[in-house]
Amino acid sequence: MSIGRFLKVALATSSVAIAVPALAQGPAAATATGINRDNGLEARRGAMLMRVEALTDMVLRVRIGRDGTLPEDASWAVAAPLRQQRVKVTATPDGFRTSAVQVRLDPATLALTVTDLAGKVIVADAPSPVAVEGRTFTLRKALPQGEHYFGLGDKTGGMDRRGKTFVDWNTDAYGFSPADDPIYKSIPFFIGVGGEGGSWGMFLDNSWRTAFDFGHKTDGVLELSGPDGPIDYYLIAGPSTAEVVRRYTDLTGKAPLVPQWALGYQQSRYSYETADELRQVAARLRQEKVPTDVLWLDIGFLDKNTPFTVNKTKFPDLKGLVADMRHDGFKAVTITDLHVGANRPKGSYAPYDSGMAGDHFVKNADGSVYVAPVWPGPSVFPDFTQKRTRDWYGGLFKEQVDMGIAGAWNDMNEPAIFETPTKTMPLDVQHRIATDDFTPRTANHAELHNIYGMENTRATFDGLQKLAPDERPFVMTRASYAGGQRYAVTWTGDNSATWDHLKLSIQQIVNLGLSGFSYGAADVSGFAGGPSADLLTRWFEIGAFYPVFRDHSATGTPRVEPWVDGPDHLAIRRRFVEERYRLMPYLYGLADQNARTGDPILRPVFYDYPSALRMSCDQSWTFTLGKALLVAPPPTPESPQAYDVCLPQGGWFDYWTGLPAGTKAMQETGPIQSATQATGEKQAQGDLVRETPRLDRLPVFVRAGTILPRQPLVQSTAETPSGPLQLDVYPGDDCQGTLYADDGHSMAYRRGVLLRQAIRCTRTAEGIRIDFDRRQGSFRPWWREMRVTVHSWTGAGTVSARNRAVASDTDATAQTLSFTLPDQARAASVTIARR
Ligand code: NOJ
Repeated sequence: MSIGRFLKVALATSSVAIAVPALAQGPAAATATGINRDNGLEARRGAMLMRVEALTDMVLRVRIGRDGTLPEDASWAVAAPLRQQRVKVTATPDGFRTSAVQVRLDPATLALTVTDLAGKVIVADAPSPVAVEGRTFTLRKALPQGEHYFGLGDKTGGMDRRGKTFVDWNTDAYGFSPADDPIYKSIPFFIGVGGEGGSWGMFLDNSWRTAFDFGHKTDGVLELSGPDGPIDYYLIAGPSTAEVVRRYTDLTGKAPLVPQWALGYQQSRYSYETADELRQVAARLRQEKVPTDVLWLDIGFLDKNTPFTVNKTKFPDLKGLVADMRHDGFKAVTITDLHVGANRPKGSYAPYDSGMAGDHFVKNADGSVYVAPVWPGPSVFPDFTQKRTRDWYGGLFKEQVDMGIAGAWNDMNEPAIFETPTKTMPLDVQHRIATDDFTPRTANHAELHNIYGMENTRATFDGLQKLAPDERPFVMTRASYAGGQRYAVTWTGDNSATWDHLKLSIQQIVNLGLSGFSYGAADVSGFAGGPSADLLTRWFEIGAFYPVFRDHSATGTPRVEPWVDGPDHLAIRRRFVEERYRLMPYLYGLADQNARTGDPILRPVFYDYPSALRMSCDQSWTFTLGKALLVAPPPTPESPQAYDVCLPQGGWFDYWTGLPAGTKAMQETGPIQSATQATGEKQAQGDLVRETPRLDRLPVFVRAGTILPRQPLVQSTAETPSGPLQLDVYPGDDCQGTLYADDGHSMAYRRGVLLRQAIRCTRTAEGIRIDFDRRQGSFRPWWREMRVTVHSWTGAGTVSARNRAVASDTDATAQTLSFTLPDQARAASVTIARR
């Protein structure tokens, strides 16, 4: 792109500042007119060249060249057509404006200010906004009081990043504490929330070891720094948090729709050591009626821990085992670490032999292949920064795909290296970049470390897709970078069996979701250590609302399958797993929404209810699942005390009883039938609901204005539910719900073989009207009927659809009116009138 296409702000040779404030007058105004035909501006200060471009009306890209040349226009996270978007801007005296934001640049300092059109500051630079010394750089932005910061993936340290400092350096962090940093991922994207110009996001697209200081070092100053690499960042305006996340995932990619089984319960262990052991676990899950979709095989199934092998003594017929599991409704996901064993007899191990023959491994500075110890012993490491290596690596999954294995688990991909204090490769290990629109070149590991794990998952994802083109690839990863959501779901690594970690898991999954990784998991039970029975039960309750729900634990720790603490605990755990399966139509609808918009599945309450930021309750681990469900675990579950739940305005229902939250009925005591059934202590104060923790209860609320789809209980998503689809109508403002269905695993949904339908409800003078939109797509669902339950209904009612009366029942205690409709594929209205 030629410089001439930008406003050239001062070409003065002076090493400091520049001359352009005069833009408003005389000749400068003429220059400003030039902006009118273009997409941004450019300024120089000394040797530094800065370019600010509007990619869209709400997304700016800022690049700074240390020595007068902009960094290479290439990225691991943002595809070329997205980086090269452009929108026309209008020149202003000191910058430009788009249809949504104004950009001001002080050419003397290169200080950038972005406001909305009313002049409210979205983001402004702090003093010394850009400092460069050699290859290192520092950017400084102002942290206004009252603004809070989220994102940066699953970093520890609580929900809000304000007041803290973080480093991006993918690290194998076994046993990390809730304050350790860095851990496994580097996602240099965060969102500022609560400022006067609304939410905004910043993505620093630099894969080196960058640091983010949110006012820890200097109060009121956000400092971003790096030792090298491009100074290339994006500013994303909202004003809502949701708009920021959607725009960030427009840039870095949406997580593709997962197979539906990935939303089911998943049982793992490091390791189920033999085929018999796995069969026993599978049988017990069915016998105990704990619905389950996936069983995971950790490194114990491999021969000498070596990827792409099978231990034939312990797993003599893996293909047969996988087929039997499928027959019982289980999918198998197997671990494939990225390292390739280097100590097997020549000719006996194709990944090493073909990898060496194809020159696919990273090298030492002296040109020899880099060899280092991991699980198999001496290992070599594919150079995923080369497309041809990714293609070769992806092909290695053929045997697994042929065996019917449903997904791949890419672990240890920071990459983890044993027996070295840095836990990873030396920084001078050589990669040979040859991919996308990068200029082919050799580069040090210091530059590529943080994207290495993501490119590992890219190779796996692309490989699975090529090997089974009509199946949705499923990849789980531990390490990643911005944009990694395009290839893999993720989990938070080796957490510990402590209450603090349970709490941290929510904060990590919330921040992952805001960082594009909508499919977050944390090992239910905690990987290291052993949970108390109560902790494990709570973890099941909360895990049942994670986007990915997997129980996993380390070798040598106590077993943590759902039944380990006896029937009482099992009953509670089972109840929550079952509830997740009942909610599957809602969850799957959120997955569809996420694939299209980037809206996270599990969200901070302020995502849909910005006023939540100003509410007084401890919200450090309250969250929503989609917009409709709010989950409010006790803030100190290890020493239960009564606590307040702040419910955003608009009205809420108790999910378990279906009654309006905070009504008299909620205060009645009786046999425990529901997780939030009120006890004597409970009292509602407006939107404040007081909860008294009990181990068998987890407060969950439904937004008034929800139509919640649910289904009859199944033991896995492979089982067809029998009975009607259930639609619970919780009357309120903006009342709506969405149905989404497809075959659950193939790519046919991309060809329109899906079902998507909006349903709305309106309160009328007579009662309620429910409107079904016409259905999109050609998929025929499993249900033939819909069982509709209207909540908060007192007295008798008459229901009519298509001018015909429909029989209905009422339940005075539950305050419901229910009726059954045939499946409604066409647009239709149903009226419910009080009698
Ligand atoms: C480390 C992973 O984080 C853990 O989940 C896994 O069980 C072990 N590696 C063994 O593969």
